[in-house]
Amino acid sequence: MAKERTVWYCTSCGNESPKWMGRCPACGEWNTMVEEPKREKKSSASGRSRAILATGSDARPQLLEDISLSSENRFSIGLQEVDRLLGGGLVEGSMILLGGEPGIGKSTLALQIPLGVASLKTLYVSGEESPRQIKMRAQRLGGETSNCSILSETILENILDQAVGMSPDLLIVDSIQTIYSDALDSSAGSVSQVKECAARLLRYAKETGTPVILIGHITKDGTIAGPKVLEHIVDVVLQFEGDTRGAYRLLRSIKNRFGSTSELAVFEMTGTGLREVLNPSEILIPMHQDDLSGIAIASVMDGTRPFMLEIQSLVSTAAYGMPQRNANGFDVRRMNMLLAVLEKRAGFKLAAKDVFLNVAGGLRVNDPACDLAVAVAILASNFDLSVPLSNCFAAEIGLSGELRPVSQIQRRIAEARKLGFKKIFISSFNREGSFSKSGIEVVPVADIPALCRLVFK
Ligand code: TYD
Ligand code: MG
Repeated sequence: MAKERTVWYCTSCGNESPKWMGRCPACGEWNTMVEEPKREKKSSASGRSRAILATGSDARPQLLEDISLSSENRFSIGLQEVDRLLGGGLVEGSMILLGGEPGIGKSTLALQIPLGVASLKTLYVSGEESPRQIKMRAQRLGGETSNCSILSETILENILDQAVGMSPDLLIVDSIQTIYSDALDSSAGSVSQVKECAARLLRYAKETGTPVILIGHITKDGTIAGPKVLEHIVDVVLQFEGDTRGAYRLLRSIKNRFGSTSELAVFEMTGTGLREVLNPSEILIPMHQDDLSGIAIASVMDGTRPFMLEIQSLVSTAAYGMPQRNANGFDVRRMNMLLAVLEKRAGFKLAAKDVFLNVAGGLRVNDPACDLAVAVAILASNFDLSVPLSNCFAAEIGLSGELRPVSQIQRRIAEARKLGFKKIFISSFNREGSFSKSGIEVVPVADIPALCRLVFK
């Protein structure tokens, strides 16, 4: 009897190799090769290319100018923020990957779509939950529609059969890691299965014009589990981020073939599902009195919309030899860099202090414009001073302690003014900021010592 053949796949990029290798030659990652049984003939690469040749034979080249744009049909999915992220609604025949950590709200968001648009004929396939569980969730979400069918199934072929029979307006698959194809021997969630299932669902989407939403799990290092190839073949990648203990979640568009990326939507997990936060600055509702020390408000621009976030800091003398440095929602290495700048360029003695930093609302920010608010919060806590809550900050801090300009300063100033801030501190190199704004005082600052003179008078 012939020995069963196996091949090695890279879990990071999906590269195939006949033998084990410590380092994937395609993507250069270490220790990512896993052994998988070799695919059977009927779904092998050569088999598939034959199939494509056979079915694709009626395709002819078209002149670019003859292609009509009206073929891109979009429809709203009832959630204004998600529509915006998708670039103005769901495109027919598109495939969307919705990724996120367990418990962040992927299934909830996906179920809210058919519950919100009663006219949308939806097939919701779940390989994780039973129809009863989904019904209970739907009741909790408070909507019911006769147009949403639930299928608890994990075999891809059955899912496709049902989808073809029902021809829904939208197919949701929860999750890509739980479904498997009979054509392959390997188990659900393995690289070859995820690749195969996604490719077959993509073909279904393109052939029938049905949009497909795939839910995908995220591994610990923050990438969508399964091969990177998943991100290549889908049209849109939306990723849920945030602290699952906190109420606020960020939905980011990482890739979008039909609109812009680097868009961001904020959601709040409530007792009755996810609520769209149309004005993200509402996270800023003050939860304390005016005169607490160690708090500064940053103007954050993540995606294309500015919003305000509260940065909290606690600086205390280190009780043990080694000072502790911890940051929630902010890069701790960046915080260490800011501490070094404050020490070396402005003479503040922080080396023997414990420093804790927290971005309120459980959000994670990576806008460099937060630097200034972080530095102000740390200094305010160190000297036990309070910064008026009517002040806000938007500047990057350079290694020599200078305040560097940030993008879109006009929009940040406009947002701060709209929210009733009295002063916004920006870099004096932000030339656009030199326009006077009625209703808000724009304070240009050159460096950290100048900032301290202005803020901690
Ligand atoms: P879920 O959507 O199942 O997360 P995922 O599919 O990403 O794993 O739900 C996430 C959490 O949200 C779960 O712990 C329960 C909570 N939740 C609410 O707080 N309110 C609600 O209305 C629902 C449906 C869930
Ligand atoms: Mg789920």
